[in-house]
Amino acid sequence: MKISVIGTGYVGLVTGSCLAEVGNNVLCLDLDAAKIEALNASSITIFEPGLQELVRTNVAAGRLHFTTSVQEAVAFGQIQFIAVGTPPDEDGSADMQYVLAAARSIGLHMVEEKLVVNKSTVPVGTAERVRAAIAEELATRDVQLTWHVASNPEFLKEGAAVEDFMRPDRIVIGTDSDFATDLLRELYVPFQRNHERLVVMDIASAELTKYAANAMLATRISFMNELANLAEKLGADIEQVRRGIGSDQRIGYHFLYAGTGYGGSCFPKDVQALQRTAQQVGVPLRVLEAVEATNNAQKLVLVEKLVARFGENLRGKRFAMWGLAFKPNTDDMRAAPSRAIMERLWALGATVQAYDPVAMDEARRLYGDRADLQLVNSPMDALKGADALLIVTEWKPFKSPDFALMKQLLNQPVVFDGRNLYDPARVRAAGLEYFSVGRAD
Ligand code: UGA
Repeated sequence: MKISVIGTGYVGLVTGSCLAEVGNNVLCLDLDAAKIEALNASSITIFEPGLQELVRTNVAAGRLHFTTSVQEAVAFGQIQFIAVGTPPDEDGSADMQYVLAAARSIGLHMVEEKLVVNKSTVPVGTAERVRAAIAEELATRDVQLTWHVASNPEFLKEGAAVEDFMRPDRIVIGTDSDFATDLLRELYVPFQRNHERLVVMDIASAELTKYAANAMLATRISFMNELANLAEKLGADIEQVRRGIGSDQRIGYHFLYAGTGYGGSCFPKDVQALQRTAQQVGVPLRVLEAVEATNNAQKLVLVEKLVARFGENLRGKRFAMWGLAFKPNTDDMRAAPSRAIMERLWALGATVQAYDPVAMDEARRLYGDRADLQLVNSPMDALKGADALLIVTEWKPFKSPDFALMKQLLNQPVVFDGRNLYDPARVRAAGLEYFSVGRAD
């Protein structure tokens, strides 16, 4: 099939290269000429396991192409995926200007029957706005055409996006025509594997499904974080509680990890956007309000423990930090707990010595040169002369460190573990003072 993908951000690039990988002919559009030039040379700036290789092999095989020409992209694909950004507005609702601009360009150049598919995370009702924008452009040109709009939200996790696309749990499709359903069913045959993955529904339900999934997962995390804070006070252990409830199949083990709160570009943004949508139609989502408030507080739970241990005035103190990315296998620091933590530590007068396997450039980009942030080259370098260690991201290399060496390098042998990486008894046996989340100290 011939497919166009509008937007070569994270979602667009993963979608385009995975669809090319199974044999489709894919043209990706971006207005950023430097980016397209780099992509044509198979150079990508996004850190995503497997993506670079996928782009390289599919470009080399002649199945994946990039362009800055809107006209060329609209003419190319029978299916036009819109995969542009929907950043939050000042009030938290999703900013639709890029999605609607993409729709307008399709309307401006379309000369034959096309299926326009929304991949971007968009509020319920966006497909109708896309339809209206295309119709308006066609009317201006006085062109009569049949075309279709569908919703096909993505459920990709950063760090596992290629795998999620190639081996999806489900493929949600919202349509209102047989043409769209049949074409998308055919497109996704290679991803069905051993059983039906396609969940076909109406467009509004598909749009809501995306937000509902992220909001449900965020809710689980915030609830576990509240239970963790309670467990600490009651002398219980949240890790044991997690195993106890996860074994109930109705609950399941996934996404039950208490920690320093959720971050990233999706949960925080989508939780807010769904609340705005709900407010607009007069349905308050009280649970989600609490989910967000709990998460904001949880990001600072390690700082609270640290202040309880070292006092409010941290002037002259130096703290090591392991992990800057909002989760492992990404360099993304958007809404990362590390940022809330560092910013509070700085406000209290402390210096931070941080290490992250891949997000250091991103930290440099965000914070520039500042005297109270030192980015160091290894986890152990971060400990040198530090008054305590804070663990914020559960990167694999942090999971089995040399505790004796840690004790030796730290100024004061204190560890605040925001991801419950270690067995408390083992860490304490090595002579380290150990604080974690949801486990009595
Ligand atoms: C999330 C969803 O998992 C994807 O299905 C969805 O497609 C994506 O958003 C999106 O809307 O584009 P992502 O933001 O990449 O994916 O990250 P997750 O792996 O879901 O983690 C989100 C945050 O929750 C991280 O900060 C992580 O540390 C935290 N988390 C996750 C916990 O605190 N506890 C858990 O048990 C799981």
